[in-house]
Amino acid sequence: MKPSKVIKKEITVRVHHDASQLTEDEQRLIREAQASIKRAYAPYSKFSVGSAVLLENGKIICGSNQENAVYPLGLCAERVALFTAGSHFPDIPVIALALATQKALKPDEVPVFPCGSCRQVLIESETRHHHDIKLLITGSDGRIYVIDSVKKILPFAFQGDSLK
Ligand code: THU
Repeated sequence: MKPSKVIKKEITVRVHHDASQLTEDEQRLIREAQASIKRAYAPYSKFSVGSAVLLENGKIICGSNQENAVYPLGLCAERVALFTAGSHFPDIPVIALALATQKALKPDEVPVFPCGSCRQVLIESETRHHHDIKLLITGSDGRIYVIDSVKKILPFAFQGDSLK
């Protein structure tokens, strides 16, 4: 009998205490995501989320969560930004996404990460444009969690290739 094997996937998250070590574009992206929080429509969950995506051409597209009385119809901030970018600039790769919430964080508590559905939509963009998306995730205390690619937070992802 063949011995079983173990597959290990590692994820590296860099935690910055503030934005000072990020590029100008990244700092701007985070500010835009934070500013988008106030444009959320979240009367049901009362949990407002802001996001912003940076395109390879330097443009920034913002999004915020948009809820509905029919709960499942609402959409997360990340997908609002990403789909808007895709519909306006279909051929321009998304190179970074910032995510912001006002959730009060305990000293070592991790900020809100993209939900599973958003990870799936984000990885589609990486594959489509052959470009990793850097994730800049921030809570209310100014710390920024940086991950170099969506693949890191969605290992063994279902991809279009699987359909061939
Ligand atoms: N939400 C987002 O917009 N992004 C996330 O990454 C997590 C959750 C929204 C969806 C819903 O409107 C509210 O937060 C509560 O789940």
